[in-house]
Amino acid sequence: MANSIIIHGGIKEFENLEGKESEYQKALHKIARDSYEVLNEKGARAGVLAAVSALEDLELFNAGTGSRIQADGEIRMSASIMDGKKNIFSGVINIQYVKNPILVAEQLASEKNSVLAGEPATRYARARGFENHNPFTRHRLREHQAAKSGRGGTVGAVALDNDGAIFAATSTGGTGNEIPGRVSDSATVAGNYASLNMGISCTGVGEDIVNLCVAARISTRKLEGLSLEHAIKKTVSEGIEFGYMFGLIALDENGNTFVDQTQGKTLYAAVDAQGIRTFT
Ligand code: GLY
Repeated sequence: MANSIIIHGGIKEFENLEGKESEYQKALHKIARDSYEVLNEKGARAGVLAAVSALEDLELFNAGTGSRIQADGEIRMSASIMDGKKNIFSGVINIQYVKNPILVAEQLASEKNSVLAGEPATRYARARGFENHNPFTRHRLREHQAAKSGRGGTVGAVALDNDGAIFAATSTGGTGNEIPGRVSDSATVAGNYASLNMGISCTGVGEDIVNLCVAARISTRKLEGLSLEHAIKKTVSEGIEFGYMFGLIALDENGNTFVDQTQGKTLYAAVDAQGIRTFT
């Protein structure tokens, strides 16, 4: 087993990139390299948390600071993490005013109830010391005023470490202008999943991802004998048949990484001992 990490910043066609493609690439490069260092030092859990927190902190990406705004003018964020070895999924749905939803999701992994939603999720975060943080940015306010929305931008990371632990983590600000309280795929097992032999993080239209139960479907196929590559291809072609719009990053028990989508281009970067590869 060898340390390996793959991260994503959504699908190009779903973001309002406005000529910022190289900025996205630079940011993904840096975050992938930095998180790989963390992975080497502290393992897969720390690696994916470092990657997703850094993506949440950059205004460029639709997660944490820079999240999209719902129809009532509020930002509600969702994030989840899954420990593939312990088989524990934890997450927050529609949490507000925290800097890093992924860290609240991680905190919930040790609770008896591991997924919290809405105002109680925010209250839980405050009680655990997560400070009040304003995630609004000028560019999202401009988008919101122009009633412009995306189609489901997300960030995510999947990592394998030398102990064979696989973690998947995903975070989103949603689509923008959605019905207040809409539930995204990102804190469900359709959008984020890991097991002993694979991990996966999805991006794209949350409703499509939930309808096909993309991540858990791929995991089951792999568990029942398909290679991860074939499990992904089969699921993506089913998505294409339905006219769905989603993308994904994935990693298997040997650290091989995969990227696929029903359409468009997934913005990703992957690092292992061989070096870095990224979208072109
Ligand atoms: N995939 C992110 C969302 O639909 O909210």
